[in-house]
Amino acid sequence: MSARILDGAAIAAEIQLEVRERTAKLVARGIVPNLTVLLVGEDPASQIYVRSKNRACHEAGMASATITLPADTPEAELLARIDRLNADASVHGILCQMPLPSHIDADKVLRRIDPAKDVDGFHPMNVGKLVLGDPTAFLPATPAGIQEILRRSDISTRGARAVVVGRSTIVGRPMANLLLQPGPGGDATVTVCHSRTRDLPAICREADLLVVAIGRAHFLGADAVQPGATVIDVGINRIADPTAKKGYRVVGDVDFDAVREIAGAITPVPGGVGRMTIAMVLQNTLLAAERQA
Ligand code: GUN
Repeated sequence: MSARILDGAAIAAEIQLEVRERTAKLVARGIVPNLTVLLVGEDPASQIYVRSKNRACHEAGMASATITLPADTPEAELLARIDRLNADASVHGILCQMPLPSHIDADKVLRRIDPAKDVDGFHPMNVGKLVLGDPTAFLPATPAGIQEILRRSDISTRGARAVVVGRSTIVGRPMANLLLQPGPGGDATVTVCHSRTRDLPAICREADLLVVAIGRAHFLGADAVQPGATVIDVGINRIADPTAKKGYRVVGDVDFDAVREIAGAITPVPGGVGRMTIAMVLQNTLLAAERQA
């Protein structure tokens, strides 16, 4: 039997509508939520992400600005820009698009953003709050979006065996922490796998919920999936496809065609997790504005 498709695009649209309604209430009080994005260099994928975030902000009735800086911008200048945005009361959310050029210390940059404006949830203050289960944490957008897909699709994680494949600070580690928290979308028994894990398929086959964020096209096949499991594919990988107009297509970390025959539910790529990330950044920006108001 073919898996239920978890429509991230539809859930993201639902959240963006909710954000728009709450934004209108703030705007009526004279506060326009503002997300300012710092983009250093000309990474094409980053440029696409940033444009999508800006467009989504405008659709939600928020203000957004992008500060584009050349790839050779000195670290001190980027830090000074962040200081100015931290001090600017009209800016509620600040996001520095990753990756940064190699001469810039990304950790230093992320630590410089005011935690109250850190809508990416990457500042150690917000990371610590997430681990402690403090509800005032800004949650990183991708794992928070995945939790929202599960909640809104009525997929219970309570007591479930969850396996997270990938230990990145942006997805894998915060995802594991969220699934571990008590309450809806949490209460799971969590295992985190990574590049040094022995017999990865055997561990994955134990999972009721499998979250794959490894960044390699079609990394996970049907042999690693328990029948009926929920599979969340975080990958966004370009592979060559001479039949496509652009010469490539975007695929996930999961071999979708094979796994959908075994899984109980699965997120597609595109149209799954990716769309949720933007919706959750908007939600965080709105939250930041509401708290600063
Ligand atoms: N680069 C890839 N994903 C992200 C993200 O969620 N936030 C930022 N700032 N940069 C990214």
